[in-house]
Parts: sequence; structure tokens; C-alpha cells
Amino acid sequence: MTDKMEWQGQVGASWARQWQRTDRSFTPLTELLVARILGCESAVKIADIGCGAGELSIRIADARPNANVLGLDISTDLVAAASERAAGRTNLKFEVADASVWQDLSFNPDLYVSRHGVMFFDDPVAAFANLAVSAADSAQIVFSCFRAPAENAWATKIVTLVPSAPSGDPHAPGPFAFADPVRVKGILSAAGWSEIAFEPVDFDYVAGSCEDPVADALDFFGHIGPAARAIRKLEGEARIAFLANLRELAEAHLHDGAVRFAAAAWIVTAKKY
Ligand SMILES: C[S@@+](CC[C@H](N)C(=O)[O-])C[C@H]1O[C@@H](n2cnc3c(N)ncnc32)[C@H](O)[C@@H]1O
Repeated sequence: MTDKMEWQGQVGASWARQWQRTDRSFTPLTELLVARILGCESAVKIADIGCGAGELSIRIADARPNANVLGLDISTDLVAAASERAAGRTNLKFEVADASVWQDLSFNPDLYVSRHGVMFFDDPVAAFANLAVSAADSAQIVFSCFRAPAENAWATKIVTLVPSAPSGDPHAPGPFAFADPVRVKGILSAAGWSEIAFEPVDFDYVAGSCEDPVADALDFFGHIGPAARAIRKLEGEARIAFLANLRELAEAHLHDGAVRFAAAAWIVTAKKY
């Protein structure tokens, strides 16, 4: 589980410092997601939900100079990182906002996009209903989210190393909250979205590369995701053992000059009723 307060605090700050690596981990998915988004050719007001450090917003703004792109995120650290990266662009801005209640009467999007930024709402039906109300007629939405943990080795293999990792509620706000397409379809249709479709995408999640891919992956895992959470909590022998096991795991996943794990996502598309 990752809740709103964590994104506003330490988790958001870590993502803001690690954006080169988080972007790298999503690279193959991003290419496909951008292609699907650019397929919505008539969009001129585009909002990126949970935009993080802004890669998706920047890619779209650069590909669509005649469109206005607005990145929304709840983390001030991430919005600062995105704004710095995007400096000089006139068709793109970033705003600190909770997308579940955000409204701007002068900017009613005809397209919402998101790369993994929509799985953290406390009340997803209310949040997507708010997005529908704030959107133009016949607006579209295109977002990605992770499929089931069992298909995402980057997470499950780390979680098995954590002593007494809590199993938790699979629908609680967090990376896997939108894994079940039946649930997501129910949320979106209850919130005023139709023509809901799911495209499965399998990709290599690169956790480490460069000169020493294992060291790079260990440093990344120390800041982002389930390992970082475990490292913050573990002490003494348990911490030493966890770090040794994590190194072994990274070494076992070193292929073709990078530490790679299997990852699986959905690209979800829908239209406002
Ligand atoms: C997994 S990260 C993805 C970030 C970015 N889209 C990317 O692909 O790098 C999830 C993002 O959603 C943001 N977020 C979570 N809850 C939010 C909310 N209620 N409103 C706006 N942003 C939110 C977080 O701050 C975080 O930046």
C-alpha cells in the first residue's frame, strides 16, 4: 500500500530524486503508451494524472505543439522536478493538485493520460467520477497500471525476501490496486466512463545498468519500491541478511548488461459517457 500522505512525503521525494531510474524502468511501456496516446489525434487539452517527474507530459507536449498539457501531482517534490525538467516549454505546465478533487473551469480536458498514476485514490469511483465531470464532452482516458503481482517479478521476488511481509488488501491504494480488469471496469463504468478496453503489455523492467548494473540496481531498490520500505524498517542481522539476499537476486537477474525483471501492465482506454 502507498497512500496519499506517503506520496506527499518521503516516497514522493525519493521518486523526485530517482526519476532517471524510474523512467528507465518503464521505457518499453512508455513507448507503447505514448503511441496509444498520440493515436487520440484530436486532443488539444490533455491532463496527465499523477504525472510524477513528468516524462509522459513532456513526451506528449513535444509531440503535440498545438495541444496544451497539464501535469497534476500531489507531491510538491515531484512537481518541482517535473517543472525543472520541462523548463522552456510553453504548452506544458505542472500543478500540485489532488486529482481526485481537482477541477479547473478554464481547462476541461478532452484527454486524460497517466503512466501508473491512478492506482492510489482512496475512493477510485469518486475520483474517476470527478475526472469525468471536469472533462469535456466525449473526453477520452488512456492510462497504464500494473497487472497482478504474480506477473511482476520485480516486486514479488523482492517481497519474498522480506521477513514477515504483510499480505495486505489487494485493492488498497498501491501499485497493484488496478491489477484486476473486472474491478477496474466496474470502477470506471460506475464513474461515468464507457468503451473500456484493456491491452496487456509485457516488458523488461530494467532495475540496473551502466558500468556496474548490480550496484546500480541495489542503489535503486534502496530508494524505490518494496525493498526500500523493508530496508527502512529492518535492523541488525535481519537487515544484513536482506541486503545480501537482494544482491543475490540482482546478480541472478543480470542479463545482457542490465539487471532485468519481468513486468506486466495494462494499457486501459475509455471514453466519457
Ligand atoms: C507510481 S508514481 C508514477 C509517476 C509518474 N506518472 C511516472 O510514470 O513516473 C504515482 C504518482 O501518482 C501521484 N499521486 C498519487 N495520488 C495522487 C492524487 N490523488 N492526485 C494526484 N497525484 C497523485 C504520486 O505522487 C506519484 O507521482
